Amino acid sequence: MKAVHTPWYMNAIFYEVHIRAYRDSNRDGIGDIPGLISKLDYIKDLGVDCIWILPIYPSPLKDDGYDIADYYGVLPDYGTLEDFKTLIKEAHKRDLHVIADLVLNHTSDQHPWFQASRSDPNSKYRDYYVWSDTDDKYSEARIIFLDTEVSNWTFDEKAGMYYWHRFYASQPDLNYDNPAVIEEMRQVMKFWLDMGIDGFRADAVPYLIEREGTNCENLPETHQILKSFRAYLDENYEGKILLAEANQWPEDVLPYFGDGDEFHMGFHFPVMPRIFMAIRKGDASPIRWIMSQTPDIPEDTQWCIFLRNHDELTLEMVTEEERQWMWAEYAPLPRMRLNLGIRRRLAPLLDNDQRKILLANALLYALPGAPIIYYGDEIGMGDNIWLPDRNGVRTPMQWNDHTNAGFSEANPEELYAPVIDTDEFTYRKVNVEQAAKDPDSTLNKMRALIKIRKSNPVFALGDYRFLAENHTECLVILRTYQDQHILCALNLTDRQQELTLHLPDLVGKRMHDLVSDKYHGRITSTETSLHLEPYGFFWLVCQD
Ligand code: NOJ
Ligand code: CA
Repeated sequence: MKAVHTPWYMNAIFYEVHIRAYRDSNRDGIGDIPGLISKLDYIKDLGVDCIWILPIYPSPLKDDGYDIADYYGVLPDYGTLEDFKTLIKEAHKRDLHVIADLVLNHTSDQHPWFQASRSDPNSKYRDYYVWSDTDDKYSEARIIFLDTEVSNWTFDEKAGMYYWHRFYASQPDLNYDNPAVIEEMRQVMKFWLDMGIDGFRADAVPYLIEREGTNCENLPETHQILKSFRAYLDENYEGKILLAEANQWPEDVLPYFGDGDEFHMGFHFPVMPRIFMAIRKGDASPIRWIMSQTPDIPEDTQWCIFLRNHDELTLEMVTEEERQWMWAEYAPLPRMRLNLGIRRRLAPLLDNDQRKILLANALLYALPGAPIIYYGDEIGMGDNIWLPDRNGVRTPMQWNDHTNAGFSEANPEELYAPVIDTDEFTYRKVNVEQAAKDPDSTLNKMRALIKIRKSNPVFALGDYRFLAENHTECLVILRTYQDQHILCALNLTDRQQELTLHLPDLVGKRMHDLVSDKYHGRITSTETSLHLEPYGFFWLVCQD
């Protein structure tokens, strides 16, 4: 039976951590691996199954580590390879998995491959990157970092040629038409897998291959290469995963699951902005619509669903009109915007209203997939829009109300970024220690929601059906797995709502709210009524 063999990632809770931001163990103002190790118990207590750590490799940090200068090391600020091994060991001891970024598409321009490539036309590395005498090839490929880049080509004086890059000019794209590059990446995978890592979040996968006359995204050749990485993983390792970062429409993400022979998991990007739309508009339609556009995926593959991450809240997968609306509603100041997105954290986006923060999480967890929580969002951390790029959502984790929020014992001036100390978001109020003591804190309520979600696999594995479609102020979703049924009813408005539901299939069952642990009566053959408080929700298990 399926339930018995369900792979670990199917019903997992993920937690995204930036080592730089989590905990500084050696007073240099920069978070590090020993710092993260010292906080593993906290992460475990949250109910997390898998930690995703942002890039830890040596890097000039032009893109906070997504510009890798050496795939086989650890940035000295963060620690050593030995520290990393200890992290894996300590995580595994606690039954926590660890995945890390696999940045396939590009390296840093400081990587020795690129240095050799640009300096010597006869070097074997010349063909590791995508060079051209002109800057007019692949003109249909969009520019992703719109606010900073004017072209996907940059002229290199040394080479006397242009090189291709989908992100910052300091991140030249690798040439995946060269089998040597594919082999290099296999070796990189092997290195970290042999160290015990549980898999990879593969960065920017749609862009591996370029072809004239296309937008250079999601090409069949790219899928072939990704499948070869998966085959390598399956042949040599067990229980390890590949998670695709493909910011695409669901129908275009579908091929990344292959026939169950490409990625185990893929982010569901487009549902994310629609959760924010639904809560601001008090209207469930955007979520229902995007889910209607979401195809079934192969057995033992899973969506990764999220509210926020370390990047801007991307608005690539919405219409122009929706984007303007989202910017107007959620990013009224120009500093809050970046590229096609919004560089803010969850709590400030939701007006620091705990009801909305919990509603957003409860809604996310009610959807099929495995949720990812971005560090700090579980305590309602704020952001700092005065910091450049996406740094405003990567500030130090707030552990307590001591100096530097308990993140570091360095002088406050030495921190890689200031801790949040403004108004309602100050670390003096918003911190783990405080939240842990308060039974009504966002942290404790999230812990409870996570626990319920995890212990009811119907959330992660079940089918879903939207109900009460005419009552658009609420999202009502019935999750079913084998003989388990959970009815999730969420009020997206700041007004009370009376829901009347017809549940012919469930007549006679008793409804018990898993969140409040309260009985809600029996489902009758006529109408079943539910009363929802403003931004309130129920997760009603329906059983005999
Ligand atoms: C996606 C990552 O999430 C982002 O932070 C990074 O800048 C780009 N890929 C380029 O690697
Ligand atoms: Ca440190």
